[in-house]
Amino acid sequence: MRGIVVFGAGGRAGRAVTREARRRGFEVTAVVRDPARYPELGADGVSVVRGDVTDPGSVGSVAGGHLAAVHAVSPFSGPEQGFDALDPDFFVKAADALLGGLTAAGVQRLVAVGLFADLLGADGRPVMDDPAVFPPEIRPFALAHTAGLNRLRAQGDGALVDWVMLTPGGGLEESAPRTGRYVLGGEQAPVGTRVLSYADLAVAVVDEIERPTAHRTRVSVVAAEQDGA
Ligand SMILES: NC(=O)c1ccc[n+]([C@@H]2O[C@H](COP(=O)([O-])OP(=O)(O)OC[C@H]3O[C@@H](n4cnc5c(N)ncnc54)[C@H](OP(=O)(O)O)[C@@H]3O)[C@@H](O)[C@H]2O)c1
Repeated sequence: MRGIVVFGAGGRAGRAVTREARRRGFEVTAVVRDPARYPELGADGVSVVRGDVTDPGSVGSVAGGHLAAVHAVSPFSGPEQGFDALDPDFFVKAADALLGGLTAAGVQRLVAVGLFADLLGADGRPVMDDPAVFPPEIRPFALAHTAGLNRLRAQGDGALVDWVMLTPGGGLEESAPRTGRYVLGGEQAPVGTRVLSYADLAVAVVDEIERPTAHRTRVSVVAAEQDGA
């Protein structure tokens, strides 16, 4: 089995992961809610299918036969969208559907993309609690994301699905180049601001599928220093 199923494949992280996975020779199934909106995704041998990450039946039916799954879904693409339509349970529903659907389909590895808001600042509190660092108006989204992480953590060690959440330690930039390098950390937010490219986030995601290093936990991922550190 060489296939990776990517939920949110039409989004910024999902496209980058799809590109990185194809570059390494993985087969990719790109899951989007409406394939007609993404005609270009099917290039380069990518199989584009309809699916909903909050529906365990949908997850199970598209995930069968794959080596691993990637959760790069977001119900919120930017502050301009507002929060009127945000379901505070979105990421909990996604976690439940992924764990249930992947278990039913026999897919053991799940790599999810997190949000830096729930990394811990120097005072030991989540970044989202500091309005100087994290915009308070985005807090509902951060809380929803954190609830999803906690749902994954609640699985314990006995569950079939070996998940990892890779949380960017700062901003993500779509136009920044792929360097092929990054640094994994723990629960702490890194000091200073280093912007990670979506392309390097994708390198980390696919590395955690090819050569897993973190299991049933969340780790931060930050850009490597220019000098290689
Ligand atoms: N600095 C940071 O920590 C940081 C920065 C940016 C993003 N992130 C995180 O990275 C992840 C990916 O973000 P992104 O920037 O790639 O988001 P994005 O560009 O907005 O893409 C998200 C995708 O999710 C899909 N989606 C929404 N609801 C879905 C559902 N129910 N089932 C399946 N797909 C669904 C959407 O596709 P359709 O509408 O076509 O279905 C969309 O293409 C998110 O968890 C986000 O919070 C973290």
